[in-house]
Amino acid sequence: MPSDRRIVTDVPGPRSLELAARRALAVPAAVGTTLPVYVQRAADGLLEDVDGNCFVDLGSGISVTNVGNSAPEVVAAVAEQLPRFTHTCFQVTPYEGYVAVCERLNALTPGHHAKRSLLVNSGAEAVENAVKIARYATRRQAVVAFDHGFHGRTLLAMSLTGKAMPYKHGFGPFAPEVYRAPYSDPFRHTGRLEDTISWIETMVAPEDIACVVVEPICGEGGFVVPEPGWLSGLARWCGEHGVLVVADEVQTGMGRTGAWFACAHEHVVPDLVVTAKSLGGGLPLGAVTGRAELMDAVHPGGLGGTFGGNPLACAASLAVFEAISSKDLLGRARHIEQMVLPRLQKQVSPTGPVGDARGRGAMLAVELVAGDGRTPAPQLARAVAESCHRQGVLMLTAGTYGNVIRLLPPLVISDGLLDDGLGVLESALEAI
Ligand SMILES: Cc1ncc(COP(=O)(O)O)c(C=O)c1O
Repeated sequence: MPSDRRIVTDVPGPRSLELAARRALAVPAAVGTTLPVYVQRAADGLLEDVDGNCFVDLGSGISVTNVGNSAPEVVAAVAEQLPRFTHTCFQVTPYEGYVAVCERLNALTPGHHAKRSLLVNSGAEAVENAVKIARYATRRQAVVAFDHGFHGRTLLAMSLTGKAMPYKHGFGPFAPEVYRAPYSDPFRHTGRLEDTISWIETMVAPEDIACVVVEPICGEGGFVVPEPGWLSGLARWCGEHGVLVVADEVQTGMGRTGAWFACAHEHVVPDLVVTAKSLGGGLPLGAVTGRAELMDAVHPGGLGGTFGGNPLACAASLAVFEAISSKDLLGRARHIEQMVLPRLQKQVSPTGPVGDARGRGAMLAVELVAGDGRTPAPQLARAVAESCHRQGVLMLTAGTYGNVIRLLPPLVISDGLLDDGLGVLESALEAI
């Protein structure tokens, strides 16, 4: 595996173009692609494509490879499990790995109360199960989600998601009893705590609400970090009304923001925590972790699924927990924030095009705006991302308006590679 950025062909190169032609005949166009180069190897913050180009990875497969791609610990753990058994179905004949992952989640999610965890296959499936559990335990039906929120692509998760294009358009009707409240956005001065709460109280009686489903930092919606006190104030209001707090930590969890879970920054102890993405170190795994009395309320057989907590994914996950602890990747995420955020903040100007720089840990972003300093400029975000791609840096966009450039480097990336990728981003931003 090469050790630095290297572009040896056009991007995409000839071999990737051949594969793209095959793909067009085999895969629906509805499955999008950020950077149409086909990968042959990845490790240590680099992705090598089939033409020999090597990209600095500032996306981590959308916050999945926090411990690195093909991390040696994960590879070894999966290789050890593989010849023993690949599947039994935990509901048919259980195995230790599943229990061990649940023990780790129960110990590390916020709060010292008794907890239980359920393992599933994805973030969307975890969100769906959290709502099932909340409804069952409270005997209430309404669910409150938030503007700009993203919770997945299955029916209920899509119903909770805020953005129409590309996630919801044409896919209705959506699940009923979902209400969407304003999310705190300090850059745009919207969604103050009082407004959020009064909006909820106006739209639905609190005693009908089973849960709020909230991202501690709004991910796909643009890495919006709510105003200090917003999340904790919301949680306090929920506690006063018997409304459960479901923290969607699918993107923010597993060390990404410099804490195991981002709720900890606001000292919020959710009733249910939803995880996925980096939980499995690249293998599909999601989870719901919650108060024991809520999780145990559901009747036997009411939760589960054929593949949930697959033994290979559990082996990988245990290696992820170990790697985050032994390599102090929480400290590493905080270091990445200290290294990157001040440089992004230097780009901010009241008249744009960089209107805001924000984030926590290794979850950082810049928001691009037009000359008035507020109007979203998605065309600029696209231009910056494409410029980075041509120069060998994988960059993701985000935001309800598509005008946010987000950085999600693997926590194990070296300072040298990160500095190199950031330099490319800075010159792309300066060129617009
Ligand atoms: C906050 C959040 N919740 C849920 C999901 C859905 O996860 P999955 O794609 O694994 O279904 C995502 C995916 O991006 C996410 O960012």
